[in-house]
Amino acid sequence: MQFRRLGNSGLKVSNLCLGTMAFGRWIDEDSSARVLDAALDAGVNFVDTADVYGKGMDNDTPDQKGESEAILGSLLGARRQRLVLATKVRGEMGRGPNEQGLSRGHIMAAVDASLRRLRTDYIDLYQCHSFDPNTPIEESLRALDDLVRQGKVRYIGCSNFAAWQIAKAHGISERLGLARFVSVQPQYSLLVRDVEGELLPFCRSEGVGVIPYSPMARGLLTGKYRKGEEPPAGTRAAAGEKRLHALMSDETFDRVERFRAACTEWGLAMPQVATAWVLANPAVTSAIVGASKPEQVADAAAAAELQLSAEQLQTLDQIFATPRG
Ligand SMILES: NC(=O)c1ccc[n+]([C@@H]2O[C@H](COP(=O)([O-])OP(=O)(O)OC[C@H]3O[C@@H](n4cnc5c(N)ncnc54)[C@H](OP(=O)(O)O)[C@@H]3O)[C@@H](O)[C@H]2O)c1
Repeated sequence: MQFRRLGNSGLKVSNLCLGTMAFGRWIDEDSSARVLDAALDAGVNFVDTADVYGKGMDNDTPDQKGESEAILGSLLGARRQRLVLATKVRGEMGRGPNEQGLSRGHIMAAVDASLRRLRTDYIDLYQCHSFDPNTPIEESLRALDDLVRQGKVRYIGCSNFAAWQIAKAHGISERLGLARFVSVQPQYSLLVRDVEGELLPFCRSEGVGVIPYSPMARGLLTGKYRKGEEPPAGTRAAAGEKRLHALMSDETFDRVERFRAACTEWGLAMPQVATAWVLANPAVTSAIVGASKPEQVADAAAAAELQLSAEQLQTLDQIFATPRG
């Protein structure tokens, strides 16, 4: 496993991050324990969660959110100190108008709830889950800076932000002497490449760490789904994950079949090539992979070591090129 600085900060993270959105949502605590152990045994020191992760994401029951954080809190024990623990705030955690968003009040309440569930007294990387157009970013940054000064949070980051939103936040942080976003967490994979136009060049220019999520397109790039066939039992597609089904079009399946043929020719596994491709981008610090089984973590760890050749990268570009309209 390689360790890299997160953006311009002094924090060192493994180039593979274990995403734990599955914990408590699709897999129980015992299976989560096996996945977590496999990741830590492979040398991963970076774990990502969010306050909203849990069954409540699917059944719209706020009480059933927070399960991923709670499972991590129960499993980590003494190992917590060696880890870089990242979580997020912004999603709906209750029915009230102030139980979501990036207002000072919600950030202050949400961080305490996350610390309680995670059974820790600090969060290494506290991320805004997405932009909140209904709160001045200055209000959010002041609240986040207070958390850094109080020691509840060590670094702040954002997720699903556009380049202009980070640039605006950086300007405010600099003007007011507040903590600055050190990283961004965007969706990025061979199938979802919109960040290549502006966000990734911006992050390279400004020293912002990039920690992409869903490098395997939620499982679609692993080759386990085929056009016109029922998803295999026990998968997220079978469980009805909406954002995964939204990616499944005939055109995408055709590209995935060409991807399968290329990987077969190279003698490489599809999940590994998909993750290695994300890591090959020089803007990327660490890829956030998901797993429901320990074997999947082992595959991801191999991907973190895999160097694709220039020719392989070119072939992948051709298969997944987005037509310009
Ligand atoms: N900031 C955000 O808005 C946001 C959004 C989404 C995710 N995230 C973060 O990113 C993390 C990763 O997201 P993701 O889980 O969608 O990423 P992903 O790595 O693209 O997909 C992971 C899924 O792919 C399948 N898979 C992985 N390795 C495999 C292998 N070797 N063979 C066969 N199938 C394999 C598994 O599906 P099955 O479980 O179906 O087998 C696994 O759950 C999340 O846990 C979360 O921390 C953040």
